[in-house]
Amino acid sequence: MTDRETNSYGKLLIVGLACVDIVNVAAVYPTEDTDQKLLDQQVNRGGNATNTSVVLSQLGSPVEWFGTLATDNLADVITEDLEKYGVICDNVRQYDNCVTPLSCVIVNASSGSRTILHKNKTLPELDPKDFEKLDLGKYSWIHFEGRNQVNVEKMISMIDDYNERRKDSKPITVSVEAEKTRNITHSFLQKAEFVFISKDYSMAMGYNSAEECLNGVREKKLLKIGAKAICAWGEKGAWGLEESGRIVHSPTYPPIKVVDTLGAGDTFNAGVLHALNRGRTLEEALRLGCQVAGQKVGRSGFRIDT
Ligand code: ADP
Ligand code: FRU
Repeated sequence: MTDRETNSYGKLLIVGLACVDIVNVAAVYPTEDTDQKLLDQQVNRGGNATNTSVVLSQLGSPVEWFGTLATDNLADVITEDLEKYGVICDNVRQYDNCVTPLSCVIVNASSGSRTILHKNKTLPELDPKDFEKLDLGKYSWIHFEGRNQVNVEKMISMIDDYNERRKDSKPITVSVEAEKTRNITHSFLQKAEFVFISKDYSMAMGYNSAEECLNGVREKKLLKIGAKAICAWGEKGAWGLEESGRIVHSPTYPPIKVVDTLGAGDTFNAGVLHALNRGRTLEEALRLGCQVAGQKVGRSGFRIDT
């Protein structure tokens, strides 16, 4: 479903983190207080929002990333990679005298599992004042990584105001991702038309399966009226809750060998967003999400076949 030739579809804005990932590929998961030679070590661009952006761009979606960047040398790892993939970064907010957020990742080559240790020492999160400066008329879809939730809610209300004021243009669709389980508040789930709920977030809410989670958020009325929710569940695939309450599912598309699951969810989100922004059904979008995520887990990094 690559549409390079017809980029008449609206531009997506992906809001959230960029960081650097030091990816350590180990033959087996390390035991505490041991010494192991790695199979490989890479210094890569990371962060949910930029991971999703580079996959969207490869699928043929016009995409801009919006977030904060330091001006240290590590920030070049991020900007060079985004440029390589054609992700627009025109409105990024840069901060001097800050350190690029860094993750230390252990990928277990025998299972593909990823263990992430993350630290943002000094770089500020995106400020709603930066969001105010955007020309919202340029975007058809704005997706928020669910971090920095108070500010995310403020930015979404600016989009709501814009949608009410606009005359001829189509309204902007808003989606949010509930992924990190730190500081769960749920209120931001009510703000978007599409809500991505990760397996970790679902489990932190007390649900043991994607279907249980989707039924639960519907029954507890945690979503905005008419909103749709999406829940990916690793090797079981992904489920979606339609406006009618119907639940749809896509199986996974597993590769021959799972080698690297770092950013599988971010890649899945990109496939879903790409399809939905082109007017595809939720079921079709889940399928594309699982297809591109299946490809991703079979290789390291975020290069996908289009
Ligand atoms: P996260 O990176 O947020 O933990 P998940 O593990 O839920 O994300 O995976 C997201 C999607 O990636 C799944 O819905 C599935 O389509 C795909 N995926 C993840 N793990 C595998 C796997 N082992 N085999 C095939 N597909 C996978
Ligand atoms: C993967 C990822 C990594 C990053 C971490 C940040 O989903 O975005 O690239 O190090 O999560 O939490």
